[in-house]
Amino acid sequence: MTIVETAVTRLRESIKANQTRGCEVRLDQVSKQYTQGKETVVALAEVSLDVKAGEFLAVMGASGSGKSTLLNLVAGLDKPSQGDIFLNDQAISGWKDNQLTLFRRREIGFVFQFFNLIPTLTAEENAALPLLMASQPRSVWQPQVSDWLERVGLKSHGKHYPAELSGGQMQRIAIVRGLIHQPSLILADEPTGNLDSKTGDQMLFILKEITEDLRVTVIMVTHDPMVAAYGHTLITLKDGRILDSAAR
Ligand SMILES: Nc1ncnc2c1ncn2[C@@H]1O[C@H](COP(=O)(O)OP(=O)(O)O)[C@@H](O)[C@H]1O
Ligand SMILES: [Mg+2]
Repeated sequence: MTIVETAVTRLRESIKANQTRGCEVRLDQVSKQYTQGKETVVALAEVSLDVKAGEFLAVMGASGSGKSTLLNLVAGLDKPSQGDIFLNDQAISGWKDNQLTLFRRREIGFVFQFFNLIPTLTAEENAALPLLMASQPRSVWQPQVSDWLERVGLKSHGKHYPAELSGGQMQRIAIVRGLIHQPSLILADEPTGNLDSKTGDQMLFILKEITEDLRVTVIMVTHDPMVAAYGHTLITLKDGRILDSAAR
């Protein structure tokens, strides 16, 4: 077994006792237009989707096809122009802003293309960020982070700053940050976009195994078919519309 496989096997065992349920995500005829001066850009057009709890959905599409818009809407960072989004069967259009913020903080983990680590925080502080923001003291988060870093093969890197890590290492820290607060939904925007293919594969292997074990729902967007192949299900967007969908 490789280091990564060993780490995942250990993680599997340790989390079996503490399984969480993924968030169900449903989009009903969701459209989004942006107006710039006199021009209207259609970012999403009548997109309907049903992502089951614990499903790993890959969303493929060229640059500008609406992938990031879709994630922003699901996260409640932006509002649909038409249609509605349901998280665990509740229409988020009916939620107050603070309810959305709270849901996002507790239930959603984000993984970004450029990792978005904070350069002045160490790897372990970056990984613990959701817990830091929930005002948990170091004595509470430190042991958890330490466990997670070991699981992703970065035990000895906790005190390193992002500038001292490789891209693959930064993305593994970002995965821990995305999962440490036990969210029910992971939103990943081109998570391998800045990694070479081998490092990207390792990262996706970790992400998929961990999220399957935790039964976390994942929506991952990418323009790369090889990356999209990690999904249980796949949709393709073109000019904001669903072109194609397939169960794998
Ligand atoms: N905030 C915005 N204001 C204006 N246009 C936007 C905005 N966000 C996205 N768009 C436009 O919407 C379309 C879809 O963008 P996006 O969702 O970022 O695509 P992708 O992530 O697939 O590259 C593009 O034409 C883009 O220029
Ligand atoms: Mg994008």
